Amino acid sequence: MGKTMQRRLVRKLDLAKALARVEPFLSPKAHLEQYTITTRAAAELLYLAAYTYDDIVDKSVIDLGCGTGRLAIGSALLGAKETVGLDIDSVATKKAFFNAERLDVKDKIQWVTADLNAVRGYFDTVLQNPPFGVQKRKADRIFLKKALEMGNRVYSLHNSSRENYEFIKKRGRSKPRLLPVSPSPFLRDFIPKHGGEIKGVYTLLMEIPRMFKFHRKRRYKYPVDLYIIERLHDTRP
Ligand SMILES: C[S@@+](CC[C@H](N)C(=O)[O-])C[C@H]1O[C@@H](n2cnc3c(N)ncnc32)[C@H](O)[C@@H]1O
Repeated sequence: MGKTMQRRLVRKLDLAKALARVEPFLSPKAHLEQYTITTRAAAELLYLAAYTYDDIVDKSVIDLGCGTGRLAIGSALLGAKETVGLDIDSVATKKAFFNAERLDVKDKIQWVTADLNAVRGYFDTVLQNPPFGVQKRKADRIFLKKALEMGNRVYSLHNSSRENYEFIKKRGRSKPRLLPVSPSPFLRDFIPKHGGEIKGVYTLLMEIPRMFKFHRKRRYKYPVDLYIIERLHDTRP
């Protein structure tokens, strides 16, 4: 089978259907900001990484702060050479293991329970939906620094802006789900300072159900920005 055939083997809809079978947290921990990425957002991110930027198929991939494993599992389903999912919370990695078994990719993913600050290693691609720093200030920056140490290409989700939310609303929901936008002034400075070059920024709408006691509404919709970053100096061993 030719490479082109392999690259297009998984349809986005099939990927999204498979990812919908990944069970989220039963009791998410607010202090770790354990929000599960939506099926749709995960499928969009993974598809872009795999088929626009060629960063998944036959690559080594780590999902930093993997939670219940949706991004890591998606990467394995799309044909990553090896996938690691890492989370500080053993309840998360146990659930991720269960999910990988459920989706028949158990042997393709290694689950690690550890604080990301304690790990070393090199991967072609880092995927992350980090805590945005609402509970622990600057948590997203710690993730980003680590991701740029560990990976050649980084796919990282970040808090977006009111302006991008208005942009999404104006474009309507039937339009492409990933809309190209400019980087935030903060990340435009922060990323090059830590050895990265921004290759693209896309905004998308995330919708989550009520999860924590302090949530007042039944559903929350908020924009997030996906940064695609390349490490400037390849320090791979
Ligand atoms: C926003 S959730 C995302 C979960 C999953 N990646 C997803 O998108 O569904 C952030 C995850 O980061 C984990 N986390 C928080 N601090 C961490 C740390 N210092 N080291 C490793 N994982 C951490 C949390 O336990 C949580 O599962």
